[in-house]
Amino acid sequence: MEAERLVTQYGYALLGLTAVVAVLVAVLTFALLRFAAAARNARQVLGEGSSETVLLSAALQDAVTRLKDQERAMSARAAASEQLSAQIVESLTAGLLVVGRAGGVKILNPAGRRLLGVAGDPMGADYRELLDAVPPLRDAIAECLATRRAILRRSLEVPRGDRSAHLGVTVSPLGGGDDAGAICLFSDLTAVVELEEQLRLKEALARLGELTAGLAHEFRNGLATIHGYSRLLAPDALPPAYRPYVEGIRQETEALGQVVTNFLNFARPEKPLFAPVALAVLARRASDELRHDLPGGTTVTVTGEFADIQGDEVLLRQMFGNLLRNAAEACDAAGRTPAIVIDGRVDRARGTCAVTVSDNGPGIAPADRERVFQPFFTTRTRGTGLGLAVVQKIAVVHNGRASVAASAAGASIELTFPLA
Ligand SMILES: Nc1ncnc2c1ncn2[C@@H]1O[C@H](COP(=O)(O)OP(=O)(O)OP(=O)(O)O)[C@@H](O)[C@H]1O
Ligand SMILES: [Mg+2]
Repeated sequence: MEAERLVTQYGYALLGLTAVVAVLVAVLTFALLRFAAAARNARQVLGEGSSETVLLSAALQDAVTRLKDQERAMSARAAASEQLSAQIVESLTAGLLVVGRAGGVKILNPAGRRLLGVAGDPMGADYRELLDAVPPLRDAIAECLATRRAILRRSLEVPRGDRSAHLGVTVSPLGGGDDAGAICLFSDLTAVVELEEQLRLKEALARLGELTAGLAHEFRNGLATIHGYSRLLAPDALPPAYRPYVEGIRQETEALGQVVTNFLNFARPEKPLFAPVALAVLARRASDELRHDLPGGTTVTVTGEFADIQGDEVLLRQMFGNLLRNAAEACDAAGRTPAIVIDGRVDRARGTCAVTVSDNGPGIAPADRERVFQPFFTTRTRGTGLGLAVVQKIAVVHNGRASVAASAAGASIELTFPLA
């Protein structure tokens, strides 16, 4: 019995122990399961977080790339527009000068440098010094800077070498603020002004011809009548005291008749016969023809470059003849042996051939430079003053011009013709 009781107690103890172990195992399993679930959750949360970061950084990178592309395109556009404005400034056929408020040169394009005869890059130089030799242009810019008002299409006569050039100038105030300066556009109008001058000369010659030819014609008829009557008066039949008067009437009417004939020749409208003419050949031929009329020892040298022009050979020979005769007469009167030079120069850019006839005589006084081409202007006692008027007329008929050129010694008459 005792033994049975002992076994039962032992059995209960074992059973209790087993139950405790079972509970412990269950608790452990539950804890393990919870730990695994927590670990899974943590892994899930962690996984979602990293993909969000990746998305964010990709978007950022995309935006940065797009910004960079835009920046590249903008700087390319800026460079292209800068290049375009530089090209425009470079290739402008008009001169462009931009100055700051203080007078510093900011831009002077190649055409401007050519027109103003500036060699290097004048960037930063003072425009007043730069334009020292072109006072009218300097004054126009100063006026615009001072008044802040635009000067539109003003025509300025500026010195160029030994003659003058004409510039068409527009100056406008530039921008605002402290650095407000002026922008000046200018172009060479010399050819246009010369053309206008030539047209004016042509019209003046035509008017003069029309006005006076009729008068001169009547005058010549009257002179012929007086001369005719004077020839009817036989000097031998007159008392000796009256003979010199009749001689005087004859001589004066003859001389006046010659003047009127010369003038009528001058005023007569020319009907030129144009053909290609080699100016060098023509100049030589004119001097050969005149050889016997010129004082002994006279030399005529033809030098330089000549070109062909469309011209009337007879008129051009007459033109050279008048110039050679004038030169020889001036030298002879000054007691010098005439040394005459006919020099040719071709300017292909302007399409002209310039011919100067120079001598070693006393030259032409500056005050007479414009007047020598006027009909009847003469300083010679036996001159009619028509020689150079005829020269000018022949030059104008050929769409050219005659002018007195500057020369160190003696006279120099320049003729300019358009090339054939
Ligand atoms: N080579 C020269 N040197 C100096 N003076 C000159 C020369 N050529 C012309 N002149 C001046 O110009 C004036 C006008 O010349 P132009 O040939 O027209 O008339 P002219 O010679 O006086 O008379 P003519 O009608 O007989 O030619 C001359 O009187 C002279 O004063
Ligand atoms: Mg003369």
